[in-house]
Amino acid sequence: MSSFNLTVDVTENGNGNLKNADSSHTLDDIDDVDFSKLLEKPRPLNIDRLRSLDERSLTELSGSPQLRNVDSASRLHDQADYVISPSVGRRSGYNTPRSLHGFETHPMVGEAWDALRRSMVYFRGQPVGTIAAVDNSEEKLNYDQVFVRDFVPSALAFLMNGEPDIVKNFLLKTLRLQSWEKKIDRFQLGEGVMPASFKVFHDPVRNHETLIADFGESAIGRVAPVDSGFWWIILLRAYTKSTGDSSLADMPECQKGIRLILSLCLSEGFDTFPTLLCADGCCMIDRRMGVYGYPIEIQTLFFMALRCALLLLKQDGEGKEMVEQIVKRLHALSYHMRSYFWLDLKQLNDIYRYKTEEYSHTAVNKFNVIPDSLPEWVFDFMPPHGGFFIGNVSPARMDFRWFALGNCIAILSSLATPEQSTAIMDLIESRWEELVGEMPLKVCYPAIESHEWRIVTGCDPKNTRWSYHNGGSWPVLLWLLTAACIKTGRPQIARRAIEVAEARLHKDHWPEYYDGKLGRYVGKQSRKNQTWSIAGYLVAKMMLEDPSHVGMVALEEDKQMKPVMRRSNSWTC
Ligand code: GLC
Repeated sequence: MSSFNLTVDVTENGNGNLKNADSSHTLDDIDDVDFSKLLEKPRPLNIDRLRSLDERSLTELSGSPQLRNVDSASRLHDQADYVISPSVGRRSGYNTPRSLHGFETHPMVGEAWDALRRSMVYFRGQPVGTIAAVDNSEEKLNYDQVFVRDFVPSALAFLMNGEPDIVKNFLLKTLRLQSWEKKIDRFQLGEGVMPASFKVFHDPVRNHETLIADFGESAIGRVAPVDSGFWWIILLRAYTKSTGDSSLADMPECQKGIRLILSLCLSEGFDTFPTLLCADGCCMIDRRMGVYGYPIEIQTLFFMALRCALLLLKQDGEGKEMVEQIVKRLHALSYHMRSYFWLDLKQLNDIYRYKTEEYSHTAVNKFNVIPDSLPEWVFDFMPPHGGFFIGNVSPARMDFRWFALGNCIAILSSLATPEQSTAIMDLIESRWEELVGEMPLKVCYPAIESHEWRIVTGCDPKNTRWSYHNGGSWPVLLWLLTAACIKTGRPQIARRAIEVAEARLHKDHWPEYYDGKLGRYVGKQSRKNQTWSIAGYLVAKMMLEDPSHVGMVALEEDKQMKPVMRRSNSWTC
């Protein structure tokens, strides 16, 4: 059982800082992703709703004098179509037996809403989040807390259902927690760090509630929640986009919160790459799993958070300086990721034939990757059409594993070019058995086994092969897959995956994860009634019903970040 050493009374003790494109399309002809064309059935969807200020280029945002010193209310509303979905007041699943678009609502949807509501956490009478799992049969550990990353699908479900208050409360409470002094033993953490999770502590003597946060100081392995701050920014933008209410993001406290989170990542140092250097277990995979270095999940969330921050930050004094830093970083980051993390058949073949020990800027094998380190499986796994962003790139190291979250976020944030996005979807279709199998979706592929498992995980008995983070199947990833499918114009892929999940999820009591090569078995230590499995399903269903919801979590390609290379010859450019 975890213990806590940080108690934050947010109202009394807080230290005042409340402070369809098909794969034959070329890069050029699918520049403008027009979501309306992607729908298989005609919907009463305003085609223009999904075009918004997101499409403004970075250069425009940083350089245009008209955009300086404008207040963000006008920034956010300068296009009438800013609100992409008239969600307020709408109940798309819980109270309506049939959806507005004429789809039959699956009986599981109502059950899922009931279960989601049971997970809600209240603080002094107000809903502030959802707990990770409502499962009393297993040791609770920290599953009785509101995790920042876990709350994201819950928040999206509430936003899509016209219930933004819980999301607003969550954003404000976690912002308060950020301002608390954070220490692990005698070491003080950065000001901008957001908690991994928090819970409400009820003092029966004083009959008083306080919030208790965990910034990693209680977490198993003392892992750092690097992803929390990024998710917070992404959620703030989703809230603003969904409600059309920019007053929350405009609050000086929120502006400061964004700046503090990003200051942690944008400060100058010894880095030779624009990617973010992290310790193991810094994200959804919060145990030792060989994701240290430059993990794809963090890099894509970083990219997405930077782009969201550009839309949210006011360009006044400090904001303006940060916007300039963000713009520079985005250019460097997208170049680096698209060039060096991208893998397809051509690229794989190039690496296979690499020369090593090349000195100077003319080097082709820039990271001195030794071809002998290429794993056998990747040659069979790579389909003729298709590709993906690999797990990690650093000196002499390419982690070729596929990670679902990072690749979906790459699509949603438009870090992936339209061609790369199409290729990722092609890969998912061609490797359906391996990645979806009997339960969507593999968190990573393949599993590591035997000696490698001993060395990489430190003999972790929770992460044995094809279990948990090591090749386990996580239903929560369904919402990310669905959003990516809709954005790339391939909703039929999501439909197929959802059908697979519907055959079991409810019957199995919404497990946290499944085990086995095909995801056939309820996970060894999987919690039941895992909230993000429930919310992930609901969000996936609601997005398919009304694809304009995807706009909350998707950003259009920035025309100024046009790739300098085309798919298949990225390495040499
Ligand atoms: C596990 C997962 C982590 C999640 C937490 C709560 O630790 O690895 O991603 O946030 O459970 O559900």
